[in-house]
Amino acid sequence: MARVFVTRHVPTGGLDPLTARGHDVVVRADDNPMSHDDLVEAAASADALVCLLTDRIDDDVLAAGAGAHLRVVANVAVGYDNIDVSAATRRGIAVCNTPGVLDETTADLAFLLILAASRLASESERDLRAGRWQGWGINQYLGEDVHDTVLGLVGFGRIGRAVARRAQGFGMEVLHHSRADTGAPGYTPTLAALLARADAVSVHVPLTDESRDLIGPEELAIMKPTAVLVNTSRGPVVDEEALAEALEAGTIFAAGLDVYRDEPRVSPRLLAAPRAVLLPHIGSATRATRTRMAQVACSGVCEVLDGVRPANLVTG
Ligand code: DGY
Repeated sequence: MARVFVTRHVPTGGLDPLTARGHDVVVRADDNPMSHDDLVEAAASADALVCLLTDRIDDDVLAAGAGAHLRVVANVAVGYDNIDVSAATRRGIAVCNTPGVLDETTADLAFLLILAASRLASESERDLRAGRWQGWGINQYLGEDVHDTVLGLVGFGRIGRAVARRAQGFGMEVLHHSRADTGAPGYTPTLAALLARADAVSVHVPLTDESRDLIGPEELAIMKPTAVLVNTSRGPVVDEEALAEALEAGTIFAAGLDVYRDEPRVSPRLLAAPRAVLLPHIGSATRATRTRMAQVACSGVCEVLDGVRPANLVTG
């Protein structure tokens, strides 16, 4: 029986794979992000860590674990930029994530943001709630159509493809850009060409050194003044100051964001920017999906503890 430390609370049923195997599961009492010192201490006293994207698993944490008996870190997320994977690999600690189970849920939210940003849903609702709406007007809240327009997907992995399926129902032409030619219809070899043609641009790339600030001032300048930008991937992929500036200047029409550079802090300039729909990183937040994510992460832990190569092993 192994000792598994869970850094924060997960939905009911999320830990079932661990309890079914009889592991000693310790769930931290607090549900706020763990401090670095506490993570180091936890890593030094467990065989496995189940963590969330708010936990920074750096080399100090991994060194403490490797010096004791930590064998696996399982992130309850598909993104794993919070974990130093190469340090883990070097120290012989497996890292697992949760690909696949959140694609449709996250794609739903990306599409919600495309619609909400294009149709000024947040801005008009804010006015209504504040008592500023004085009645129907033909020139009020004029948004941009979504149906029969062009969607540009930056990144064409599982989530990007799930967004593409939704776009087909709206009669959209779907373009996608990724570093390698996918061979799929709509592949656009350069990001610039995609940005120039798309009416809605939706970002679906993992955060890496190459994708940091992928959408900056130059890229925003290429977009149509009627276009919307949506980001449900990771905040640092978009230069937030440049985006705020583009919204202020009206060089793009609107934006829908679910992720931020320095969560939970949101740039005051973005908060004040016009035509921005801002959500608090809820892309995968449905009861079913978050439960499944926790179960998938816990299954990864079980596989490692059983000496099996985990299906969702991340390598650095
Ligand atoms: C992830 O899984 O990486 C999302 O950002 C949270 O669901």
